[in-house]
Amino acid sequence: MTKEQIINFLRNHNQKHILDHYHRLSPEGKNNYLKEWAGLDLSLVFDLHKKYSSEKDFSRPFYEIYPAPIITIPETAREKAQSDEARILGESLIRKNQVAILIVAGGQGSRLGFEGPKGKFLISPVKKKSLFQLFAESVKALSQRYRSTIPLLIMTNQENQMETRQFFASHDFFNLKKETVFFFNQSMLPTLTPEGEFILREDWHLLLNPDGHGGSLKAFYESGLLKHLTDHGYSELFYCQVDNPLVKIADPVFIGYHRMEQAEISTKVVRRRDLKEKVGIYGLVNGKPTIVEYSDFRPEDYEALDENGDIRHWTGNTAIHMISLAFIQRLNQHGFALPYHRAVKELEGLGPDGRLAKITGWKFETFVFDSIPLARKSCCMEVSRDEEFSPVKNKLGNDSPDTARAAMNNLHRSWLQEAGIQPAPEAKVEISPLFAQDKEELIEKLKGKSLAINGDMYIGQ
Ligand code: UTP
Repeated sequence: MTKEQIINFLRNHNQKHILDHYHRLSPEGKNNYLKEWAGLDLSLVFDLHKKYSSEKDFSRPFYEIYPAPIITIPETAREKAQSDEARILGESLIRKNQVAILIVAGGQGSRLGFEGPKGKFLISPVKKKSLFQLFAESVKALSQRYRSTIPLLIMTNQENQMETRQFFASHDFFNLKKETVFFFNQSMLPTLTPEGEFILREDWHLLLNPDGHGGSLKAFYESGLLKHLTDHGYSELFYCQVDNPLVKIADPVFIGYHRMEQAEISTKVVRRRDLKEKVGIYGLVNGKPTIVEYSDFRPEDYEALDENGDIRHWTGNTAIHMISLAFIQRLNQHGFALPYHRAVKELEGLGPDGRLAKITGWKFETFVFDSIPLARKSCCMEVSRDEEFSPVKNKLGNDSPDTARAAMNNLHRSWLQEAGIQPAPEAKVEISPLFAQDKEELIEKLKGKSLAINGDMYIGQ
């Protein structure tokens, strides 16, 4: 939009405080002020504001949700054989350079309260590696194992992109080939007050929020990376969040099931920890696979037990997906298909007197899992929480750095025990993905070797 168009737009949308502020700025300030506006989708946020303000109250009808078909953790010989078949298929797709990896790292990480991109957080129990380093080393290990080129895509936002790129550059891309690592930015949207006013963050900066993890599917398309990968023969994307150090990057079994089921999107779920754990649930709504947020359940449904006394809706979302590139293309074909949600948050912005104050803001975001009901076919696989899911969300308590470090330590201890090694009870252990990506590889590498672990130990290359 041109300067005149922006000013007219603001006038027509009752943004007097913003215009008054504009008129008080120096010519340079005015310029900077308007520059920020040019790339924003202002009409979208006003349409969304209109939609959400017309809701009489904030409550929505609750969903009727039914259990969906799930590929559970294999127990019988038949299930194990199927899982092996899936693994072989998945491995062949990685070998044929059909699988790329996307880590979404554009969130604000406000609960953790860490300064800087969350991927820089030092998480591993002994070597204190960052989340980004762990993921990069897993990708490196996979590409060596399968002799393939596995592109690593990292979605950032406008505010953390520079620091993220610099972090990779200053660590020499953790020995990945630089040309196989791609960064792209998700869109930012203005946060509004409940009355529909923009909020100033600083003299000439608006308060903006990243457009949700669902924005990855739009930004991936708009950045041209989707086309680039498709043109180079890639067909599947392994999607995960930056905050889960246990994630099995590009798990071949998962990739294999995704392909065997001809799914457009697949999801890994874990059993809910307990009735109170707040997590999205994978199930059927109107006959379609869907992830329903816990807040969209009737409380009595969320806490319901089945006839065996187990949690009825046990399928907790891990936000680990396989997504077909053709599906992402389709989601963007006629404008972006995902719906925008509103989050009401207490934020800091400039009040009418120009000082920082607590302000209620409406953030508009899309969620990646909203694409599941739009898929022609989707697939869901249960995995073990202890082996694959321990997100770093909070500073303390559940889902915190402490629980994630303990989970990594416990997992690696269990691998060592299977390899016949008993670490001292108080010893912390860490196995580099470059040494072994799984229990089987560790057992193989340690065959015939004796190892005494009496204190903290890092097992690297
Ligand atoms: P969360 O929903 O946990 O949000 O994101 P967050 O921003 O990291 O943390 P809080 O809620 O402010 O404490 C889950 C994943 O989705 C990514 C995050 O980086 C994380 O990997 N994400 C979230 C984005 O990439 N963009 C967004 O707009 C939101």
